[in-house]
Parts: sequence; structure tokens; C-alpha cells
Amino acid sequence: MKEPQNPTVQKPNKSDKDYSIYFQPPSLKDAKKRGKEEVSVHYESAIPDEMKTIGAGKRYLIRTYGCQMNEHDTEVMKGMLEEMGFASTDEKLEADIILLNTCAIRENAEDKVFGELGHLKTLKQEKPGLILGVCGCMSQEESVVNRIMQKHAFVDIIFGTHNIHRLPALLREAYYSKEMVVEVWSKEGDIIENLPKKREGMKAWVNIMYGCDKFCTYCIVPYTRGKERSRRPEDVIAEIRELARQGFKEITLLGQNVNAYGKDFADMTYLFGDLMDDVRKIDIPRIRFTTSHPRDFDDHLIKVLAKRGNLVEHIHLPVQSGNTEVLKRMSRKYSREQYLELAAKIRTAIPDVMLTTDIIVGFPGETEEQFQDTLTLVSEVRYDSAFTFIYSPRDGTPAAAMEDNVPEAVKKDRLKRLNDLMTVIAREQNELLRGQTVEVLVEGESKTNPDVLSGRTRTNKLVHFTGPKELAGQFVNVMITEPQTWLLKGELIEEQKARVV
Ligand code: SAH
Ligand code: SF4
Ligand code: F3S
Repeated sequence: MKEPQNPTVQKPNKSDKDYSIYFQPPSLKDAKKRGKEEVSVHYESAIPDEMKTIGAGKRYLIRTYGCQMNEHDTEVMKGMLEEMGFASTDEKLEADIILLNTCAIRENAEDKVFGELGHLKTLKQEKPGLILGVCGCMSQEESVVNRIMQKHAFVDIIFGTHNIHRLPALLREAYYSKEMVVEVWSKEGDIIENLPKKREGMKAWVNIMYGCDKFCTYCIVPYTRGKERSRRPEDVIAEIRELARQGFKEITLLGQNVNAYGKDFADMTYLFGDLMDDVRKIDIPRIRFTTSHPRDFDDHLIKVLAKRGNLVEHIHLPVQSGNTEVLKRMSRKYSREQYLELAAKIRTAIPDVMLTTDIIVGFPGETEEQFQDTLTLVSEVRYDSAFTFIYSPRDGTPAAAMEDNVPEAVKKDRLKRLNDLMTVIAREQNELLRGQTVEVLVEGESKTNPDVLSGRTRTNKLVHFTGPKELAGQFVNVMITEPQTWLLKGELIEEQKARVV
């Protein structure tokens, strides 16, 4: 494998104060450089034979923060740990290894992790043999790594998002050296195939690409996840076929910007629309994807999605703002009009599509008028739901250098007004389903009432209805009788066996 830019395993001695002589922290500046070097795909096995029993009799716990990408990385780490003989536990007190798989997207995400580290310090004092690790997106930030090395020196391992496959080697280091092990590669263009994954339930995530080259001015992800690189279609398709064979009912294709899939292939023209057209033919009842960037959403993809079958009628299409000037400063590379045109085109091709989105309020310089444009866009597009956020400056991103001049109280007020509007629209959208019959994948008993079953429509809406719990894992038809804002209540109208598309 290609040598990373930054040093590999480093072992700063915990008692030393000046870590800089041992360790060069990850650099956001380096991470921004996008190399022209080819992406290499590695197929070798991740767990050396001598590591396969290292975890015998020991337990691990991984706490996951952030997006589906992180959730899926956790599945990979669980897979590797279990191949090393470790068993899982949900009890901190029982764990021999605790890993925090962190998220850096907003300041409050980071605060949660530092809060958790505070709690774990006591545990580590009581149980010195415990291995504590910090991984995920926060470990890619130099300020975070420095802060952990200086203020939380009881942490045993810090490793980055490009180093997950190195977990076995890092653990061995941590066990044998008893010093802090830090490995964060700043830039890494490789793809590691064949890592074990521990999936649970009836739904599975499948990465189709890694990284992001969009560099929206507020966002840390291009720095923490590296450059855009697509998995080879044959690897993606083989993984989905295998999941179909194992009986999974639903697949979500993952990427920070799935519409950029394939743009990095030098040897062929094969884009996201082509991939969707191929996975459509695989015997899996439902296929979703997240996340789309409006800029790369092309007509071919819309045509393929309109074929339906196992391609569901739900598209998460983050807009971020309804004002063209703000979009420009966010470097989203589309205007309000272009977004609305795209949404309309999608609705024409797939009339019953559900659109969901992400929105940021209080971006530097956002005026009341510009915020109003976001409200009118939301009313026009009629989203079924939206993730809404107050802008949070991220060190090293271009927006962090802009004047953050919207007062906190105004940001909060805008968020509330946006959420109030979304609540009204979501309720109205759900009302349209009253009396309609929808296909529901039954997940099991509802969390609040064991007499009620809970499941999801093709559009990912939550449905509750009464029925025998043996239906879990099956597709059933439910008539919606009581739509609410974030929940559809209905009646089971017919039992049917798992559908094969
Ligand atoms: N790749 C995805 C987004 C991943 S981050 C996409 O482009 O859609 C998920 C969401 O977090 C973003 O869509 C954005 O709405 C929000 N977000 C990202 N950076 C943020 C920041 N600095 N402050 C507030 N919200 C942010
Ligand atoms: Fe962040 Fe923009 Fe990339 Fe999404 S597309 S991950 S918001 S930089
Ligand atoms: Fe957070 Fe990293 Fe995902 S910053 S949102 S975990 S890609």
C-alpha cells in the first residue's frame, strides 16, 4: 500500500508534555490537496492469523456518533474485532475495549464526545487494563488530536477514518506498548475491500464511494473523509448479491455525494445512473441511497429511478438554503431556480416521490429576507421531512473565516420558525395518505407498545398497526387510517409473504 503522508504509528510517551516531537498531527491543509494519483483497491485480508485469538474472553463496546457512514464503519470495526475473538457488550463496566467513533460535523457533536471522555476517565482509573480508543471524523482534526493528547492522555489509541483497516495492528501496539498509539493519515486515496462487517437486522448499508470533493464552505467532511473515490461496480454488485442471498430486505447505498459515483473512473464511463440500473436487477426488495447532491443529479438517473421496482420513491436531496446568494457563498454550485427545476423534474417523472432535505439556518451573513427564501422554497417543494441545523463554524473551513454575524437568538428563532413550518407541511403530506394502502416492511414491536407493530413504507415513513409479531421481517399491506405528523397509524389489510421483485 502507498505510504501515507503523515507518520504512521506513533507512540508519544504519556508522561511527556511536548508531544510535537513525537507526532505530527493530521493537517486540514494537507487533506484539502487532491492528488491526481490513481485510486488503488486492496483485496488482501485485514486480520493476520496471529491476531485471530487476541480477543478471546474479552469484550468490546463501540459508541457511534454521526451519520450512516460512521454507523457502517462501526459495523466494519465490529466485524474485525469479532474475527479477533472479541465479543460485544452494551455494558461499559464489562468492556475491555471501548471505542468512540466520532463525528465532527457540528460543535455540539464534538462536545458530546468530550463529555463522554470525561466519564470514561474515571472508568479507566478503576480499570487500567481497559483500552480506550477515539476514531472517526474528529480524529482527523489536528485541534482535536492535540487536545486529546494533552488533556485526555488516558486515551490509548487515536486513529483516523483512513486507518480503520489498521485496527488489528493498532490494538496490538496498544496492548504490547502501553503507550498512546496515534495513527491518522491525512490523505489517503485507497479503497480497502474484503473487510469483515457485522450487520444486524434486515437492512444493510453498502458503501458505493468514499470521501467528498465538493468542499461546501461550511463543511468539514471533505477534510475528514478524503477525496472522492468510487468502489468498482463489480465489487458493489457482488456485495449486494451476497446480501440478497443472506436474506436482507433493504439496502441503502452510501456516499457523501452518491451522484458523483463513477466520475473518478479513468478506464470507463459508468455513473450512478448506470449503477442503479444494474442493482435494480438484483433480487433485493428495496434499494435506497443517501446522500444526493443536487448538482450532479442527471436526467439519466431520474429515468432509471422512474423504473421503480426495487428502487424506492424516496430521495433525500439536501438544499441547505433557498436563497441563491447564500447558496453561492456556501459554494453549493446551484441556484434556487435550478434546485426547484430539479425537484419539479423528479416529481414529473415519479409523481408519488417523497422528498426530504437538510437545511442550515444562520449561515454567515444570512439576512431575514434570505431566510424567508428558505421558507418559501420549503413551502414550494413540500418536503416530507427535513433535518434542520443552526450553522456551526468548523475550524479550517472557508466559512469559518467569514464573519459569523447572525446573533445566536436570531439563529434559534429562525430554526424554530423553519421547524414550525416543516411540522405543518409534514402533517399535510401525511394527510394525503389517509385511506391509502401502503406496503410496509415490518420491523417488529413498537418501542412504546408491544401490542403494536412498527414498520416502514417504501418512502421510509414510520407506520404503526396491530398484528401478530410473527410478521416481523415481512412485507404487509396497511391501510392508513390515522395520519399524524411523524407517524402513520393504520390497519393491516392483508398478509403477504416476502415479496420478490
Ligand atoms: N454529504 C451530505 C451531507 C453530510 S453532513 C450532503 O452534502 O448532503 C449532513 C448535513 O449537516 C449537511 O447536509 C448540512 O445540512 C449539515 N452541516 C454540515 N456542516 C454543517 C455546519 N458546519 N453547521 C451546521 N450544519 C452543517
Ligand atoms: Fe459536506 Fe458539501 Fe460534501 Fe455534503 S457535498 S459532505 S455538505 S462538502
Ligand atoms: Fe459526522 Fe463524519 Fe459523518 S463528520 S456526519 S461522521 S462523515
